[in-house]
Formats: sequence, C-alpha cells, structure tokens
Amino acid sequence: MKTIVTKTSDDMSAMAADILLNFVKENPNAKICIPTGGTIEGTYEILTQRAAAEGVSFKGITSFSMDEYAGLGKTDKDGYYYFVNKHFYSKVDIDKANTFVPEGDAPDIEEACKQYTKRVEDAGGFDIIFLGIGPDGHVAFNMPSDTLTLDTHVEHLSQETIEANARFFENEAAVPKKALTIGVGMIARARKIVLLASGPKKADIMGRLLNERNLNPKIPASVLWLNNDVTIIMDEEAAAKVK
Ligand code: PGA
Repeated sequence: MKTIVTKTSDDMSAMAADILLNFVKENPNAKICIPTGGTIEGTYEILTQRAAAEGVSFKGITSFSMDEYAGLGKTDKDGYYYFVNKHFYSKVDIDKANTFVPEGDAPDIEEACKQYTKRVEDAGGFDIIFLGIGPDGHVAFNMPSDTLTLDTHVEHLSQETIEANARFFENEAAVPKKALTIGVGMIARARKIVLLASGPKKADIMGRLLNERNLNPKIPASVLWLNNDVTIIMDEEAAAKVK
C-alpha cells in the first residue's frame, strides 16, 4: 500500500486527477469505477478542465458508479448518477451509453443488484477504482458490520452516514435509508485502487485503517489490505493520526 500525504485537499485532488487522466491516456478502453461525494468533487473539476485543455478523449471508457440511493434513478437531482453526470460525464466526450449505475429506481432492487454485478463481471471487472471513505470506514456504501458482502447488494445506511450525507439534501429526513452498492469483493478485485481522504473528519478513521493494519469488517475499507496496487492520497488533516 502506497500512502501519499499532500499539504492541501486541492493538492490531493490534483494528484488524483493526474492519476486518472494518465490512466485514461494509457488505457483508452479502461473500465473505471468512480464515487460521488465531497472528496472527489475537486478531482472531477481538475480532471475535466485538463481533459479539455489537453484534448484527452474518454470515448472508449466504460464507467461504473459504485453506488446509488434506493428509490433514485439517473435523472433524480439527489441521485449519484446525476452527480457524476453533472461534474464529470457532461464535461468530457464519454459515450453515455457506456456509463452505468446500480438501478436505484428499479421495481426490484435486489434483482437490479444482481444485474449490476453481472454487468461489471461481463466487462471484466474494474481496471481502476477511485474511492472516498466515510468517517465510519465505509467504502462505496459498504457499512461497518459483522460480515461484509462481496457483490452488489442493498445496504441500510448507518445513522452516521445519513447525518454526514444530509448536507446534500433539504434535511436529514430526506436522506434515503437504503442504497445499492458494489460489494467489497468487487472493490478488492479491482486491478488498481486509489482512495482519497481529506479534512479533519477523516483523521480518526485513516489513523485506524493504517495503524491497525488488519482485516476488520467494522472498517470496510480494511479490505484494501488484500489488494497489491493501492494508493492512498490524504491531505495533512486526514493524515494527522497516521503513525
Ligand atoms: P465524502 O464521502 O467524500 O462526501 O466525505 C465519502 C464517502 O462517504 O465515501
């Protein structure tokens, strides 16, 4: 596991954008998996500006969102597809037919999860995945638990996660209580993993993840220890408790 500490969160974003842009240049048909959230927003901004300035094409890229709220579809403003479309897809030349998200508004979300796993498997898995991390250690929407699920599945969101995500909604009551998410097996099997963390709210969890160095289902991000191509980029605030 490679860890990089940057001075600011902007530096973290610039470094992540650089990794993704170079990956796309070198692998124009890559299958990528990407997150939603405050941490990745700066990365998308720099990435799309640089892609335009340098003429980098995403035409051959297939992109998978890692999660979506139950009940929300591709055009819902609070949905995760909407976020990545707004900040990323709409600003590059990616073919929207090759952009996927678990179907949160499907009549049968369990079946939608099965279909999503199959779609990812049919594509050959993820060549690269970018992850944020929750203050409780969740990655994608895999919540701390006694057991972790390997494939795409429905999760009940922890109270901590609902509170953390309320800032994106009108109020806390409006945050969906369930989400569809890729499982930890799909994350651990990605050929390359980049995890980003910024700000003081991530300091405790980054300290635990990197100091304890064990597999702990109460820290879903600990599955990253199983992969041999992991880069963690943190700003100084998020790295404050890492020994
Ligand atoms: P954040 O979310 O980037 O908004 O902090 C990260 C996550 O919950 O995975």
